[in-house]
Amino acid sequence: MRIAIIGAGNMGGAIARGLAQSGLSAVAASVSSSVPSAGTSAVPTPSAEPAGVASPVPASSSASSTVAASASELSSGLSSAVASPASAASFAPSAVGSQGSAGNPVALYELVVANPSRQKLEALQAEYPSVQITQSNVEAVRGADLVLLAVKPWKMEEVASELKPVLDYRTQMVASVAGGVGLADLSALYRHKNMLPPLFYVMPNTAVAVRQSMTFVAAQGASEEQTAAVVNLFRLLGEAMLVEERLMDGGMALASCGIAFAMRYIRAAMEGGVELGFYPNEAKQIVMQTLRGAVELLQSTGNHPEAEIDRVTTPGGITIRGLNEMEHAGFTDSVIRGLRAARPLKK
Ligand SMILES: NC(=O)c1ccc[n+]([C@@H]2O[C@H](COP(=O)([O-])OP(=O)(O)OC[C@H]3O[C@@H](n4cnc5c(N)ncnc54)[C@H](OP(=O)(O)O)[C@@H]3O)[C@@H](O)[C@H]2O)c1
Repeated sequence: MRIAIIGAGNMGGAIARGLAQSGLSAVAASVSSSVPSAGTSAVPTPSAEPAGVASPVPASSSASSTVAASASELSSGLSSAVASPASAASFAPSAVGSQGSAGNPVALYELVVANPSRQKLEALQAEYPSVQITQSNVEAVRGADLVLLAVKPWKMEEVASELKPVLDYRTQMVASVAGGVGLADLSALYRHKNMLPPLFYVMPNTAVAVRQSMTFVAAQGASEEQTAAVVNLFRLLGEAMLVEERLMDGGMALASCGIAFAMRYIRAAMEGGVELGFYPNEAKQIVMQTLRGAVELLQSTGNHPEAEIDRVTTPGGITIRGLNEMEHAGFTDSVIRGLRAARPLKK
């Protein structure tokens, strides 16, 4: 699958680096006999496309599905994105990059990144020589299966007018991570001769830089295979969930703003830890490991958080006293109010 990333800034650069790393580790996972292969499911359901729009591909998509990017899922994600028979015709892999099982170079993704200034491009290529770079958006999208737009929202129009005439909507998909530029906006920007490409509105969070993003994908006019290919691509960078577009704002509050909310909890707990006698760095280490443990417990047991709370709240004990004190101060209420407030204001 050839991916053209337009914009090598914070988000475009992080996605490019994450994919370059994922390509390498996924190959390592697929050649290791200790890594089982497991199936994952991205099961898009049909949805209507805006009336009057002629799309060169069947309309599809908008259901919810979550997938954790475990090592096995990573490799199966890759196989569905790149090597599944259904998608092979449109997303044929080509030979560049990392090591395959026979020791020959095998490409998982071909990545080309475009940016107006050279500095970011050169830094990227110095880290990952297999990533192709160009200062021309038009050159970047030539032959790409997926064009991933990672420019600021106010640059979207300029980029669309440049790319629209050269894109082949029968073979090329367009995805955008521009915040607040939804599928209707993308349709308006990319409608050309009454045709639209398969469109994806994608919202990763900043943890994409460490391949632990919670990414939401909303699709329009894409086939099931195309949707699965895009969702699987973002599963390489953390977890990815296919959602109806109406859930994007809530997803952003929970996961994008959620990074800041989680940081604020960590900071608050650190301050409490200092009051209890720890140095700040010790408190940070303790809080981070405690959160890691809490997440691991939920992931491994599948339990509701309240079940794990029950296990540590001895009747009359200290944990319930602490919890109740937090609730008296409005803990749960504050979190919910914060999430509700973090949705974008209606235009
Ligand atoms: N950062 C996040 O956490 C985050 C999260 C989710 C979504 N997003 C979305 O990601 C998009 C990019 O944000 P960012 O934080 O990565 O911004 P950024 O760091 O400013 O990156 C934007 C990049 O676009 C390049 N650019 C400008 N005009 C261009 C053009 N005509 N063609 C190609 N590239 C062009 C810029 O190049 P020069 O610097 O060389 O001018 C810059 O490298 C935004 O739409 C934002 O909403 C960001």
